[in-house]
Amino acid sequence: MFRKKTVRDVDVTQRRVLVRVDFNVPIRDGRVEDDTRIRATLPTLTYLLARDAALVLASHLGRPKGKPDPAFSLRPVVEPLAALLGRDVLFAHDPAGPDAQAKAARLQPGQVLLLENTRFDPGETRNDPEFARRLASLGELFVNDAFGTAHRIHASTVGVARYLPAVAGFLLEREVTIITQALERPTRPLMAILGGAKISDKIKVLHNLLGRADRLLIGGGMANTFLAAQGFALGSSLVEREAFETALSLLDTFGEKIVLPTDLVIADRAAPDANVRVVAVTEGVPEGWMALDIGPSTVETFARHLREAGTIIWNGPLGMFEVEPFAAGTMAIARVLAESPAFTLVGGGDSVAAVKKAGVADRMGHISTGGGATLKLLAGEPLPAVEVLEDRT
Ligand code: 3PG
Repeated sequence: MFRKKTVRDVDVTQRRVLVRVDFNVPIRDGRVEDDTRIRATLPTLTYLLARDAALVLASHLGRPKGKPDPAFSLRPVVEPLAALLGRDVLFAHDPAGPDAQAKAARLQPGQVLLLENTRFDPGETRNDPEFARRLASLGELFVNDAFGTAHRIHASTVGVARYLPAVAGFLLEREVTIITQALERPTRPLMAILGGAKISDKIKVLHNLLGRADRLLIGGGMANTFLAAQGFALGSSLVEREAFETALSLLDTFGEKIVLPTDLVIADRAAPDANVRVVAVTEGVPEGWMALDIGPSTVETFARHLREAGTIIWNGPLGMFEVEPFAAGTMAIARVLAESPAFTLVGGGDSVAAVKKAGVADRMGHISTGGGATLKLLAGEPLPAVEVLEDRT
C-alpha cells in the first residue's frame, strides 16, 4: 500500500539525519498553544534516537516573506520538544546558514538540533536547488515526516531529496496509508461528510468522494449553494452563484448519493446574541436571515446514514460551530462519529477543532495532522513530497 521506503528500510544507526517535520503550530505570546503536531512526530524521532542517530530537524512556521521575522521563529518549539523527548534540544538561528552548518557539524549521536524556520530563506518556497543543497549538507540521510506540508513543492520537502537518500517517517507513512485505504479499500458502506464554506475550494474532493463513497452528506456553507442552485430561497446566506452549474451537474450525475440538509438553523446575524430559529428548506430563508447550521431533522437524517457506515470520512464543519448558537449540528455529528463502530477518519483543521471542542477527539479512528495535504489525498491526487521518496523495491 505505502510503496516508499521508510526509516525501517535504511540503516540509521549513528547517522546524522535531516528530518523534515511539520512544526507549523499555533504560537501565542511565545508559547506553543497546541502541540499535537509536535507529539505526532515522536514515534519517528524516538525511533531514530534509540538508534543513536543525530537529528537535524527542519520545519516551516507560518508564512514569513522569505526573510527572518521574529514573529515566525521556531525558537518557542525548543522547550516543549525537549520536554517531550526528555533530552536537550539545540537551536540554530538560521535554517541552513553558518550557525546551522557549525552546529550540525558538531552534533553527536543522540543529540537533537532544531533549525530556524526554513521559510526565512527565500529559496524554500521557490524550491531553489542551492538552498536545498545547503539544507541537504546538514545530514547524511533525509527523513520526511512532515505530512502536513507534503503537498508543497518546497526545498525542504521536495528539493532535498535530490541530494540525499530520502525515506518516509512513521507519521507520513501512517497518514498516507490510512487516508488512502479509507478511500480505496474502505469497509463499506463508506459515508463521507463534507462541510466548509465553499464548493469552489473542494471541487476535486467532491468529485473524488462522490466517485468512491456510498453516500455524501453535505453541510456548511457549501450546502447552501447546492440548495440555492435548486431554487430554494437562501436569504442572506453565503451562496456561491458562480458554482451553481457545478452543483447542478453534480446533482445530475450523483444525485442518488448526495444527502443535503432538509432544515437549517438561521439567524439575523452571525453573532452569539443573534435572533435564531429553525426553518425547513422548503419554507426558505427570509431576506436578511442566513443559514448558519444544519437543523435537527437534518442531524437525525445524517445520523441515520452514519449509523449504517463501515467507514466514515469527515472533512469540514457543518455550520459556524465556533459561535455557540450554531454549534449544535457539528457537535451532534461529532458525537455520532464517537459512538460509531465504523472506522472514522477526520481531516482538515476545522473539523479536527470541532471534534476537539465536542470532547471526542480520542474516540476517532484517525485524526489527520494535515489540512491542505489531507484535501489533496481526499481529491485523489498524489503528494509531491511523497513522490520523490525512494521506492520500496
Ligand atoms: C499546514 O498547516 O497546512 C501546513 O503546515 C502547510 O502550511 P502552508 O499552507 O503555509 O504551506
